Amino acid sequence: MKRIGFIGLGNMGLPMAIGLVKEGYTVTGYDINEQAVLSLKEQGGAIATTIGQILVSSDAILTSLPSVKAVEEVYLAADGLIEQGDKTKILVDTSTVSPELNQIIDQACAEKEIPFLASPVSGGVIGAEQQTLTVMAGGRKAIFERVLPIFEVIGGNIFHVNEQIDSGTTVKLINNLLIGFYTAGVSEALHIATKKNINLDDLYSMLSVSYGQSRIYERNYKAFIANNDYEPGFSLKLLRKDLEFAMEAAENTQLDLPISKTLLSLYQQVEKEGYGDQDMAVLYERVKEQSAKKEAEK
Ligand SMILES: NC(=O)c1ccc[n+]([C@@H]2O[C@H](COP(=O)([O-])OP(=O)(O)OC[C@H]3O[C@@H](n4cnc5c(N)ncnc54)[C@H](O)[C@@H]3O)[C@@H](O)[C@H]2O)c1
Repeated sequence: MKRIGFIGLGNMGLPMAIGLVKEGYTVTGYDINEQAVLSLKEQGGAIATTIGQILVSSDAILTSLPSVKAVEEVYLAADGLIEQGDKTKILVDTSTVSPELNQIIDQACAEKEIPFLASPVSGGVIGAEQQTLTVMAGGRKAIFERVLPIFEVIGGNIFHVNEQIDSGTTVKLINNLLIGFYTAGVSEALHIATKKNINLDDLYSMLSVSYGQSRIYERNYKAFIANNDYEPGFSLKLLRKDLEFAMEAAENTQLDLPISKTLLSLYQQVEKEGYGDQDMAVLYERVKEQSAKKEAEK
């Protein structure tokens, strides 16, 4: 399988597709944003202007899409991958969507014997650029083994969770729930330090040799907060989406997760206030602003 189609060439999809070009794959890209496709072309990829063209020129098609709506359009629409595809083309969704949507797509694929894996990824834009992503695949082991060489190009840690199609998504949503917790914790903790005149670089050094450090503290502080630059990265609205999926999945199985519920409403509120398109680390700035407002009201 040397011919890959890539649909969704955003923060994650573009570097993943470029990684495949670098390793000698023929990659054809499709995105509703023309600039994204041109960026792939500059790196040696080919351009498709329809999903039909992607199917003709590829043996496996990977998708990296930002929402349920986009994934539904690409897979389930009348001109989508399933309607136009057949059992000779493997479909792999690396987007983070709901377990329910994984199941709907899997069912639709099964009706046409189209091989499908739901394989979300973790490791962020840096992981995609460095081809070190963690891949969490759910679906049939036999399909996973066929796709493994492709996963080994985009990722450094490849897991087949189990044969349940949404198993990779469950692991990914647990991961992102924890990201949501750590991001909120880091935001409030750094705010205390600022207020108490503790230098944030010093705090970072001290906590790096204490239990308060975390990969998210490292990421959010070093790449975003310390530079006062919140160009995403992983946008706050994408994190909010994943927390909603996690809570939906929990509710569908009658789990009561009160702390997670509060966390989700925080991110929903912060997105409403206009922070959604910035990196999730921007929550720190919002904590500072809210605190300043409260002080001014006193
Ligand atoms: N950014 C991260 O750090 C990160 C990490 C792990 C997983 N993810 C997941 O990966 C997926 C993609 O994230 P991203 O950050 O690259 O998002 P993004 O918004 O940067 O990119 C999405 C791309 O999909 C394109 N697109 C949207 N609708 C489309 C359609 N109908 N047809 C074709 N193209 C379409 C957009 O134009 C855009 O280029 C999401 O599901 C996200 O949750 C993101």
